[in-house]
Amino acid sequence: MRRASRLAYFLVASAALAGVSAVQKVTRQGRYLYKADGSRFYIKGVAYQPQGTVNPDDPNNAFGEPDSFIDALANSTGCSRDLPFLQQLEVNTIRAYSVNSSLNHDDCMNALSQAGIYTIIDLSLPVNGSIDRDSPAWTTNLLDLYINTIDTFSKYDNVLAYNVGNEVITTANATAAAAFIKAAARDVKAYLSVPSSALVGYAAIDADDSWLVPFANYLSCDPSGSNDGDTALDLFGLNNYEWCGDSQPSVYNNKNGAFAGYNVAAYFSEYGNVQCPPRLWTEVGTLFSEPMTDIWSGGIAFSYFPAQSAAGQFGMVNISSDGTTVTTGDDFNRLKTQYGQTSPPNSPSASGSTTFPACPTQNSTFLASTTLPPTPNDAGCNCLNSAFACRFTPTVADPSSIIGVLINQACGDLGGAGGSCDAIAANGTSGVYGAVSFCDASTKLSYVMDAFYEATNSNAQSCDFAGNATVNSQAPSNSAAVASAISACLAAVPSTFTPSAPASTSGGAAATGSSGSGSGSGNADSGALAFDAPAVVGVLVSAVFSVLGGLLVLA
Ligand SMILES: *[C@@H]1O[C@H](CO)[C@@H](O)[C@H](O)[C@H]1NC(C)=O
Ligand SMILES: *[C@@H]1O[C@H](CO)[C@@H](O)[C@H](O)[C@H]1NC(C)=O
Ligand SMILES: *[C@@H]1O[C@H](CO)[C@@H](O)[C@H](O)[C@H]1NC(C)=O
Ligand SMILES: *[C@@H]1O[C@H](CO)[C@@H](O)[C@H](O)[C@H]1NC(C)=O
Ligand SMILES: *[C@@H]1O[C@H](CO)[C@@H](O)[C@H](O)[C@H]1NC(C)=O
Ligand SMILES: *[C@@H]1O[C@H](CO)[C@@H](O)[C@H](O)[C@H]1NC(C)=O
Ligand SMILES: *[C@@H]1O[C@H](CO)[C@@H](O)[C@H](O)[C@H]1NC(C)=O
Ligand SMILES: *[C@@H]1O[C@H](CO)[C@@H](O)[C@H](O)[C@H]1NC(C)=O
Repeated sequence: MRRASRLAYFLVASAALAGVSAVQKVTRQGRYLYKADGSRFYIKGVAYQPQGTVNPDDPNNAFGEPDSFIDALANSTGCSRDLPFLQQLEVNTIRAYSVNSSLNHDDCMNALSQAGIYTIIDLSLPVNGSIDRDSPAWTTNLLDLYINTIDTFSKYDNVLAYNVGNEVITTANATAAAAFIKAAARDVKAYLSVPSSALVGYAAIDADDSWLVPFANYLSCDPSGSNDGDTALDLFGLNNYEWCGDSQPSVYNNKNGAFAGYNVAAYFSEYGNVQCPPRLWTEVGTLFSEPMTDIWSGGIAFSYFPAQSAAGQFGMVNISSDGTTVTTGDDFNRLKTQYGQTSPPNSPSASGSTTFPACPTQNSTFLASTTLPPTPNDAGCNCLNSAFACRFTPTVADPSSIIGVLINQACGDLGGAGGSCDAIAANGTSGVYGAVSFCDASTKLSYVMDAFYEATNSNAQSCDFAGNATVNSQAPSNSAAVASAISACLAAVPSTFTPSAPASTSGGAAATGSSGSGSGSGNADSGALAFDAPAVVGVLVSAVFSVLGGLLVLA
């Protein structure tokens, strides 16, 4: 007996050391998820992210989104405190909204894996770490952010999916941003195809079907018309708060109808309305049985940690002020009871193939072009930065706070000198993307500053911008040479390619145990808020950073 248990302990320990999977690989086949043994996989999940701080004075933060985050998956003390409670809930998945790729996640990720719990990792971060809903672009800084996170997490066996955004689009007039989200999915998918089987997802705010449905179909369609999934999501998440209190299953009729023929997997990336207390979680029985299991692959209950939003107070537990003790609420116990009773059908069996239909056509409620923006290209932007004769030289600690203003100023100056900011503009409706539009905001600003400097005959006073710009003494010697160097940088840029890890990546912290193969991962973007009619969602990710705000006016 004793011997057997020691042996068992030894086997478990050595399996862990050898990196043997504690969880089965989950793949998408057609519109459903399957474990390696062929059984259907349903996401029985809970959101696991402490709420960041919300700065109500931030003029960019119209949505009350947090402007900081706490990476709970990097805190082994917190994780081991919470794991027994996650196990009591019988969840098989947690969703984390923001993680820091420079921290070590080994303890938490491995403990979750040993407990059979997968993770859905959102790649975006608050503030500037997400595709901007008001001025969308798909840029090197976001792609690199995403790749750094993927590289940090690719060594774990329990990453189910990476989300390329959360509630980036909240209204029909912003649906042009879908082109940038789809490009993010394309590039992340290409990057993942190298080392990983993780799925590529997006979490959408629930909204009017006149734009939500074409948006969902657009993210899973093939613009080339040849049944090719290269730009398609694997996993569409709907942040759905329709069930309130003790609703009837018919509340879902409309969404069920809208997604009845969807071609890839779909799930509720958040659910659990607080506006008809008490939360009974009786939707669990409906979501995890037919006919909803024909359409959806489960959902993520929102939220384990307390989270305050305009729609009310969420959260199933409280953590003591010293961080040591978890107190569960009635919400927790009711969800636990409901999750304990699920028995979704293990059908249909895996079919293997997926159809990627043509994309929805543009109309007044769905504005995105099927011409996608290019893959952001670090080498191209670095090349430009060497070629510019006049460049942005930030003197403040957080340049992102002034870049938008300076771009507007510089574009105004350039316009006055007969030039234009078209090269840095990206329009997801017309499908016209300026040659420099994939670069980070700082490079775009330098581009405009340089163009103004050239347009004014390299007058030194033109390269100033109240002390924010400096002449680059290493640049080519005259305007013609600068122009030709810039052209050469841009001519070398392919429109789409499989991205690689950024050269300067700090890399994941302390990757231990796994192969250390070091193939990068990366570039990324997006994410943003959440809420909706009854709802609240996106509590954690946001991105209302209006760099380029003025461009729209000037273009
Ligand atoms: C990630 O963590 C490092 C180390 O604590 C910190 O310096 C950095 O600011 C964090 N990054 C973000 C985006 O929070
Ligand atoms: C959409 O309309 C709202 C309300 O009129 C406005 O605040 C927002 O800036 C618009 N967004 C875009 C991307 O046009
Ligand atoms: C736009 O097309 C979608 C289908 O792709 C449709 O649901 C929506 O109603 C259309 N909008 C208008 C204003 O016709
Ligand atoms: C980790 O979580 C514990 C428990 O909540 C907390 O006391 C501690 O400050 C956290 N550590 C970090 C580095 O955030
Ligand atoms: C957490 O504490 C707050 C304040 O005391 C209370 O209103 C709330 O109900 C508690 N939540 C849970 C889940 O117990
Ligand atoms: C966001 O802004 C901070 C501060 O300027 C910067 O360090 C960081 O790299 C930016 N992140 C992205 C993804 O652009
Ligand atoms: C984008 O292009 C469309 C035409 O396709 C135009 O109506 C719209 O104003 C442009 N948007 C911006 C922000 O320039
Ligand atoms: C840079 O630009 C910002 C925004 O316009 C301005 O506030 C600041 O004074 C300028 N100069 C320096 C040295 O930061």
